[in-house]
Amino acid sequence: MIEAKNVTLQYPDGTVALREINLSVKMREIVFITGPSGSGKTSLLKLLMGMEFPTGGTLKVLGRTLHKNEMDKIRWLRTLMGPVFQDFRLVKGRTALENVMLGLRFLDLPLEEMKSRAQEALFKVGLQHKANAPVENLSWGEGQRVSIARAVARKPAIILADEPTGNLDKENAQNILELLAASSRDSNASVIITTHATHLIDETKGRIIRLQKGAMERADE
Ligand SMILES: Nc1ncnc2c1ncn2[C@@H]1O[C@H](COP(=O)(O)OP(=O)(O)OP(=O)(O)O)[C@@H](O)[C@H]1O
Ligand SMILES: [Mg+2]
Repeated sequence: MIEAKNVTLQYPDGTVALREINLSVKMREIVFITGPSGSGKTSLLKLLMGMEFPTGGTLKVLGRTLHKNEMDKIRWLRTLMGPVFQDFRLVKGRTALENVMLGLRFLDLPLEEMKSRAQEALFKVGLQHKANAPVENLSWGEGQRVSIARAVARKPAIILADEPTGNLDKENAQNILELLAASSRDSNASVIITTHATHLIDETKGRIIRLQKGAMERADE
């Protein structure tokens, strides 16, 4: 699914956010990325989504090598990704259902199928009763679940979640992780989750990768 070989990411201002990353992720695998603030977690997700590109090394996603300036490939890649953003990125003034449907708009589905997929995803996250509520009326945790439903409804090959447990209490954080794991079982997706909450994860739930100043180290060292 994902093969990174000696991947380095240097931003235009000279900041080296990732250095010599070697990572291989298989279908249905769950990988947690931990590490201090600024260690490169979000940067790594951006590479996998085609929002940034390696400045060194090679990155293959679903068998294709990603390069800058290949918009066709990037569009293809984005249809296969289910991103869950740290700040949710829900569209205000729209309902929960409409927000989940907006996540499907590039998949070329008939409207009825878009709607039924979106309803199914809201059901999975336990929010079917809020389908017609404007997102600004939802609680923080509900908004987060809408953002997960939006990702899951796409039936993505890879779910990428940036700090989905941030600001949640232990029980809710565990529920979110369970929800993401269930989505991977449902759709054979690989799931990559960044998190500070190392006390909530262990190796029975997935592989743990620790970043330190942009480089990988083993979690148990
Ligand atoms: N667009 C950018 N241009 C320049 N530097 C950037 C850019 N985005 C991130 N960085 C820098 O790259 C490094 C890694 O940032 P990144 O956002 O990946 O960290 P993170 O591990 O996700 O941190 P956090 O836990 O705070 O979310 C940091 O030093 C950050 O300042
Ligand atoms: Mg981050």
